[in-house]
Amino acid sequence: MTVVVLLGAPGAGKGTQAPILAEYLGVPVLASGDLLRAAVTARTPLGTTADRYMSRGQLVPDDTIVDIFLERLAADDAADGAVIDGFPRTVGQAVALDRALAKRGNRVDLALYIDVPEDLLVARMASRRICAANGHVYNIASNPPLEDSICDLDGSPLIQREDDSEATVRARMAQQIPPLNEVVEHYRTTGVLRPVDGLQPIELVTAALLAATDLELGRV
Ligand code: AP5
Repeated sequence: MTVVVLLGAPGAGKGTQAPILAEYLGVPVLASGDLLRAAVTARTPLGTTADRYMSRGQLVPDDTIVDIFLERLAADDAADGAVIDGFPRTVGQAVALDRALAKRGNRVDLALYIDVPEDLLVARMASRRICAANGHVYNIASNPPLEDSICDLDGSPLIQREDDSEATVRARMAQQIPPLNEVVEHYRTTGVLRPVDGLQPIELVTAALLAATDLELGRV
């Protein structure tokens, strides 16, 4: 089993890179934000609770997300591993993940940290668009679709995420970067942290992530 955790501040590029890395490794992407947004859309009890926090740019409490996310990680399609996007977001979540994997004789093999300075992220989020059908990620400045406002992959319209308003983005940065820094330190301590410069163009970030993966997972 290969477990790769993708870390980064809101807008650092996790959702852009996770599917590429997952395809390379032949494992699924498990994204906590997608799981929570699906629950909000379906108006489940989890979604109702999560929406209260997400709409304010706050992290959903650990006791709301941890069990549900670990259950998702234990599903059959992740038997060979996963690229995890958006979890853990706190040291409590990181410890819970370590414990759950250890029970099955596994561990986080690699924590890739896409490092981007905070002041550049707000602008990135303002120009982000996602497709309505599947959440494919674009950017009208750095990664536009071929046809204006239409997803290249499934033809659905491109929309802005509800939590990408400037006020919510600033709240997300303020509330979420301090716990992210603690999670980064957690993985530095366990020896699996590999930072990557997220300021480079998307293709170069991909190349750096794949090179770190090859090196650290002994694929070369
Ligand atoms: P989540 O969906 O995980 O959002 P996030 O972490 O804030 O990350 P984003 O999806 O906003 O950004 P990203 O890093 O994926 O960047 P992207 O690739 O889109 O979580 C949403 C909410 O759910 C949270 O706020 C929280 O409330 C809650 N939540 C989720 N998980 C939780 C957990 N574990 N615990 C508690 N609460 C949780 O890229 C951004 C833009 O930049 C795009 O337009 C892209 O095209 C562009 N771009 C990407 N890379 C580059 C590049 N190298 N150069 C130029 N542009 C680039």
